[in-house]
Amino acid sequence: MSNHLLQGKKGIIFGALDENSIAWKVAEIAHEQGATFVLTNAPVAMRMGEIQKLAEKTGAQIVPADATSIEDLENLFKTAVDTLGGPLDFVLHSIGMSVNVRKGKHYTDLNYDWLAKGWDVSAVSFHKVMQTAWKLDAMNEWGSILALSYIAAQRTFPDYNDMADNKAYLESIARSFGYHWGVKKNVRVNTISQSPTRTTAGSGVKGFDGFIDYAERMSPLGNATAEDCANYVITLFSDLTRKVTMQNLYHDGGFSNIGISDLAMEKFSQE
Ligand SMILES: NC(=O)c1ccc[n+]([C@@H]2O[C@H](COP(=O)([O-])OP(=O)(O)OC[C@H]3O[C@@H](n4cnc5c(N)ncnc54)[C@H](O)[C@@H]3O)[C@@H](O)[C@H]2O)c1
Repeated sequence: MSNHLLQGKKGIIFGALDENSIAWKVAEIAHEQGATFVLTNAPVAMRMGEIQKLAEKTGAQIVPADATSIEDLENLFKTAVDTLGGPLDFVLHSIGMSVNVRKGKHYTDLNYDWLAKGWDVSAVSFHKVMQTAWKLDAMNEWGSILALSYIAAQRTFPDYNDMADNKAYLESIARSFGYHWGVKKNVRVNTISQSPTRTTAGSGVKGFDGFIDYAERMSPLGNATAEDCANYVITLFSDLTRKVTMQNLYHDGGFSNIGISDLAMEKFSQE
């Protein structure tokens, strides 16, 4: 069902890898809600070819860009503004990757070259995206910029490894750049702290099944799915949330405020 919440709005959606991706669901619902947008992902992610299906379904153009490359980002923003016919109303940064997580390196034995790479991809790229848009004056007044985070930025989840630190940095960038965007153009910048979700990035974390089961039991509303997350993203891109900025917004079925739940107790009380 469409309420036309994004009618006439233009944007860029980073990070749709396959149909499980949070960004994929955002693109589908943004399209239903009347938005036009450019889809982008790292050139290596294009090889799978899945994103073509999404582009056809949503009438979007695809512009490959490594989110750590300023050159790629400049090309992306210029092409998006040209193709869509003017500055943008929304940007979704839905990107995460840790080489240490991928290669199973323990937090007490990190490879710092890999740490730097993961930090650049998962956190600094958010700054690069916003700085590129800033310099090209590519955002419209009252636009909305969002990135996705996880509660390991606030609380310790040992297997989340160096991604926890990357997410803390990402959330800080949202606050710091959010100030400047607000003053300059009334553009808001937020992060959504999402429940564990079965996607390529999510499932790469060691012990993910335990993680997701634990969160499901602890959350009064249960885990938020990728589709739930996409719906929330749409509200934050809409004109109904214009004064929400510089926030880390929990979208987790209540997990972030729970101490213990009956369902978790049941599990831990088992002999
Ligand atoms: N899945 C979860 O449990 C969960 C929970 C909270 C937050 N998040 C966050 O949600 C976001 C989206 O992840 P997802 O779960 O949909 O997984 P996903 O694997 O579908 O998406 C991650 C995306 O990052 C892209 N990417 C990696 N390196 C890149 C680069 N250099 N340039 C451009 N893009 C690059 C990948 O190609 C992929 O499309 C990430 O920020 C992730 O950390 C995920």
